[in-house]
Amino acid sequence: MKQINVGLLGIGTVGGGTFNVLMRNQQEIAGRAGHPIVITRVADRNLELARQVTAGQVTLTDDAFSVVNDPDIDVVVELIGGYGIAKELVLTAIRNGKHVVTANKALIALHGNEIFAAAREQGVIVAFEAAVAGGIPIIKALREGLAANRIEWIAGIINGTTNFILTEMREKGLAFADVLGEAQRLGYAEADPTFDVEGIDAAHKLMILAAIGFGMPMKFDQAYTEGITRLESKDIRYAEELGYRVKLLGITKRCEAGVELRVHPTLIPEKRLVANVNGAMNAVLVKGDAVGPTLYYGAGAGAEPTASAVIADLVDVARMMTTEVAARVPYLGFQSGQIVDLAV
Ligand code: HSE
Repeated sequence: MKQINVGLLGIGTVGGGTFNVLMRNQQEIAGRAGHPIVITRVADRNLELARQVTAGQVTLTDDAFSVVNDPDIDVVVELIGGYGIAKELVLTAIRNGKHVVTANKALIALHGNEIFAAAREQGVIVAFEAAVAGGIPIIKALREGLAANRIEWIAGIINGTTNFILTEMREKGLAFADVLGEAQRLGYAEADPTFDVEGIDAAHKLMILAAIGFGMPMKFDQAYTEGITRLESKDIRYAEELGYRVKLLGITKRCEAGVELRVHPTLIPEKRLVANVNGAMNAVLVKGDAVGPTLYYGAGAGAEPTASAVIADLVDVARMMTTEVAARVPYLGFQSGQIVDLAV
């Protein structure tokens, strides 16, 4: 069984989570992927941090280009974030014929058209499940589970940081600024938390959902984006007195002129399921013409939930690298000698 060699770019919150989950569940993951998936190289600016996380088990470098140019690397996992150096690294990896897995919503929302075109030309995969709604497999749901449908609308809570802040403000009466630091400490917020609190991160994710759901190009600059920075605890309290919760929603739907795309704080009646999504959890509602409304719920941010989505993409890439049809058939029972059966 050929080992899949992974080059990991960035070993911060999500990179560390990816490394740990891959190590912990390596047998299960290899069983499902049909190949062992091994991080063989890690690039990070902070070599000391990289050394601590990987405990000397991986070759480290602070030169990310040496990883994307390494002929022994099959898949590059980009977890640097932002659209500066990350874009150049991803395009270089693609030009070198490597598959790419990324959690970088900003990169996909702004440069997805160019990146996907380059990947199609090279015949490589660019997978980005972790870019939207953390651990919820919403991209796979849209591309696979709902593939029969004409998508009518998508709406939901797709930023964990702001949902955490709004929950804490409501439950504890805390001020916005006091809760943001806690969201950062818990590893939910972006490196620049302005992206979270101004609704930009949610708009990036909504753009990706719209592009996949409606089959349209990325046009991020046309999204209406409003965050939560102008909300005060008393707004949340008054809403509650009237029987509503305030949530930062992303909403995209078909309209006469095309597709509408907006992110803004919204009043939701407190009995609705989405009104009761608290903390850093996310929830995405998708309405398809055949299936009707569907709801996806789970952890929208944080190290291991996001790592779960990154690794699911790695498993997908590994399966696609295998040409045998049998690689698509679920493997029941793992080859590790570990036997799991019904407790009777
Ligand atoms: N900062 C993002 C959030 C991380 O809070 O949702 C997950 O994309």
